Amino acid sequence: MDEKELIRSAIDAMSRAYAPYSGFQVGAALLTKSGEIFQGCNIENAAYTPTNCAERTAFFKAVSEGRRDFAAICIVGGKGGVLTDYTAPCGVCRQVMREFCDPETFRIILAVNEEQYREYRLKDLLPVGFGPENLA
Ligand code: THU
Repeated sequence: MDEKELIRSAIDAMSRAYAPYSGFQVGAALLTKSGEIFQGCNIENAAYTPTNCAERTAFFKAVSEGRRDFAAICIVGGKGGVLTDYTAPCGVCRQVMREFCDPETFRIILAVNEEQYREYRLKDLLPVGFGPENLA
């Protein structure tokens, strides 16, 4: 799976964002270790706090379909769906990643377009995290 395909998928997912309050549209493409992609978009709510981020939409779709082995996620976002800068995952989404992904190897790709992207490992975006093994 090359990065460009994952970036294209995240941009496609962003087109389905439901963001009438912030106007900030986000798309995510979550890659499983077996090569499947689960897309997600942000879904806002008039009561604000029920809003779900694009990343969590993708994770919850995948986990609810029985997938738990993930290799990478690509995230794109911008006001009105115009991509001008990198959109990093919020703290809550980083914690959801921590539940299912290996901090050492899980790749987080932040993209502006197919040519302009940055890649991080979960351990760098969520250092000294709390995870399932803490409760084992
Ligand atoms: N948002 C995401 O979907 N993912 C992030 O990582 C950052 C924020 C959404 C939530 C809300 O709908 C909008 O962006 C503005 O915060």
